[in-house]
Amino acid sequence: MDEGVMKTYARADEVFVDGHGARLIDSTGREFLDFLAGIAVSALGHGHQGLASSLRDQVGKVVHLSNLFRHPYTEQVATRLCAHAGMAAAFFTNSGTEAMECALKLARKAMHVRGEKHRTSFVAVEGGFHGRTMGALSLTWSEKYRKPFAPLMDVTWVPPDDVQALERAVAEKQPCAVVYEPIQGEGGIRALAPAFLRAARDLCTRTGTVLVHDEVQCGCGRTGTFLAAQQVGVQPDVVVLAKPIAAGLPMGACLANAAFADTFEKGEHGSTFAGGPLVCRAALVFLDELDRGLLANVQARGEELRAGLVAIGRELPIVREVRGTGLMLGLRLWHSATEFQKALYKAGVITNCTAGDVIRIVPPFVITSAEIAQGLRIMQQTLATFPQTRELGAAVSPKS
Ligand SMILES: Cc1ncc(COP(=O)(O)O)c(C=O)c1O
Repeated sequence: MDEGVMKTYARADEVFVDGHGARLIDSTGREFLDFLAGIAVSALGHGHQGLASSLRDQVGKVVHLSNLFRHPYTEQVATRLCAHAGMAAAFFTNSGTEAMECALKLARKAMHVRGEKHRTSFVAVEGGFHGRTMGALSLTWSEKYRKPFAPLMDVTWVPPDDVQALERAVAEKQPCAVVYEPIQGEGGIRALAPAFLRAARDLCTRTGTVLVHDEVQCGCGRTGTFLAAQQVGVQPDVVVLAKPIAAGLPMGACLANAAFADTFEKGEHGSTFAGGPLVCRAALVFLDELDRGLLANVQARGEELRAGLVAIGRELPIVREVRGTGLMLGLRLWHSATEFQKALYKAGVITNCTAGDVIRIVPPFVITSAEIAQGLRIMQQTLATFPQTRELGAAVSPKS
């Protein structure tokens, strides 16, 4: 297993060969409920017929062109994304990390344009995750990810929701950008306080700092609105998107408002593959589904799921907290969630464990009520097999 592959992933043994909607099927024919969607990606689920026929059509025409030539779909996807996000222009990438790199370069360049070349550092929020390339990694909080790759860029960290620390950091460091996830994903489905987001917006406006929202995980409709920060009424200067944007194909985007849309000159940023015709066709299928009302399903199913998790939490003392909104939810336990995640997987529900004690639940946007009910039933039954200890950090496994 994993022969010839660098050992960067801890992979499950099953080999998945098929899927439909929120269900995945392994090579033995066993069906799993997919409450993870390839880490918050497969918004349209598996085996989506509209996606399949659009991609078949495009594969038979032009798969790749490079950005030296035009195809009909770049501007369509860009303008529709910008309309949803209240932005002016998009730069396409192949991943969330690359979209973050684009935002970081844009913020530095904006300071050059303004003649404030000393403003090169960044302010980020503890617990954040922004990717693993040198730039994005610099802003990623977990030391485990950063330490072996030092030295990285100059980043000042502030605790989540600490407005005073944010003000101090911006005053002392005069950074080019403040960067955070409105809802931290890897950080344990942790929403930053609306007051913190508003204060950051106000501070960045007053100090001419670029406000960058990383909505790679919480954006594109996952929380029930196109951007999570729209629920708080905060508009950043730059927003970074990826994961569900092309329904499972690799696409990211860095969107900038009118003030920053023309920051890059020709040749100052680029990508061979990004924004090609195939991924753009996929993104159009996703955007069409959003326009047909997919967010109503995210909201309704999200409420069912949340209510079910809260009910489980009332019954089982091992549950510490239910976090998140829409279809971005976290079930926080009083101790490590790893064993529970493994038991759930054995019972046929795919989730993952984040921030140590949180089960991350980020299913496809097309999930049905029946699938939510089935998943909740399995979660309740599985969790009930664990000792209901509230002892922090206790090592627990299912009662045999
Ligand atoms: C908030 C956030 N930013 C950036 C990234 C990096 O995205 P990618 O893995 O597509 O490069 C992730 C990935 O999980 C993420 O959750």
